[in-house]
Amino acid sequence: MASKVLVTGGAGFIGSHVVDACVDNGYDVAVVDDLSTGRLENVHPRARFYQVDLNEPSLAEVLETERPQVVVHHAAQISVKVSMQDPYRDAQVNVLGSLRLFQLCHQSGVRKVVFASSGGAIYGDPQRLPCDEDQPTLPLSPYGIAKMTVEHYLRVMCPIWGLDYTILRYGNVYGPRQDPQGEAGVVAIFTGRMLRGEPVTINGDGEQTRDYVYVGDLTSANLLALDKGSSEACNIGSGAPASVNEVFAHLARLTGYTLSPHHGAPLSGEVRHIYLSVDRAWRVLGWQPTIRLGGGLARTVDFFRSAAPAR
Ligand SMILES: NC(=O)c1ccc[n+]([C@@H]2O[C@H](COP(=O)([O-])OP(=O)(O)OC[C@H]3O[C@@H](n4cnc5c(N)ncnc54)[C@H](O)[C@@H]3O)[C@@H](O)[C@H]2O)c1
Repeated sequence: MASKVLVTGGAGFIGSHVVDACVDNGYDVAVVDDLSTGRLENVHPRARFYQVDLNEPSLAEVLETERPQVVVHHAAQISVKVSMQDPYRDAQVNVLGSLRLFQLCHQSGVRKVVFASSGGAIYGDPQRLPCDEDQPTLPLSPYGIAKMTVEHYLRVMCPIWGLDYTILRYGNVYGPRQDPQGEAGVVAIFTGRMLRGEPVTINGDGEQTRDYVYVGDLTSANLLALDKGSSEACNIGSGAPASVNEVFAHLARLTGYTLSPHHGAPLSGEVRHIYLSVDRAWRVLGWQPTIRLGGGLARTVDFFRSAAPAR
């Protein structure tokens, strides 16, 4: 059983919730994050914090000092749009940064890596729904290509290095601490704009469907993956589809927003319809989602309402 865990991206949205869950469950936790999108105030006060870029030489010293048993890797450039505009920059962080981290994990005796991949970005437009892990992977963006590439590195190199791994392929994650000013995360962006009474733009007709999963459900998947799911890749989603228009309607009701949405051009690199089969996560990790969309959105709006400045 692991007792010492290092979380990369632990000052970010998902990573900081994973850190909280690890600390609350008695793990000794360290965080690596360059604070490019993460925030120091997200980091649990009982976690040791290192402001380090994955590609910086000092990452080696952090691993040598900390000597964690498990590294949970969430640090990434997360914008599909940025990856389309600058695929080189995306690959520098998401491919080379990840590879460097794993190589250092091997050199410093880490037992296991848990990798945050993307069920929304690696399959492309799935052949059948719900999308299971055995479907072909045909990413439509450099971001998706990078996540898939890292999965291949883990599959090929970990047995050679004697390093265990579990890949968690997340759906569209939402919840408290997601950046409402960010490039990604429709729930946070819409909620922020609705609470400020600002116009909301939906990319395309809004009938595209996604698998929206609440961040609280991810933390339990990560805790289970610390010790289970050896050499496996598991979808982590809600197992149900919802359209962007449905999310808009839920959030408008919860925030009391009365304006109609604008419809912009559809984004390039976007999948039309996807939702994830989560059967393997149940078989392999004993994990299943527990929070329904309505309940998760209500908790998220409560968070943003209390954090939003008074109008
Ligand atoms: N949010 C989603 O819906 C979603 C879906 C699928 C997968 N994921 C993956 O989950 C992980 C966390 O995403 P998030 O939504 O919490 O995003 P986020 O931007 O809040 O978190 C990413 C964190 O990584 C840090 N970071 C970025 N580049 C770094 C670098 N070079 N070195 C060190 N730290 C760096 C950022 O400062 C940030 O704190 C990412 O790997 C992302 O690709 C997210």
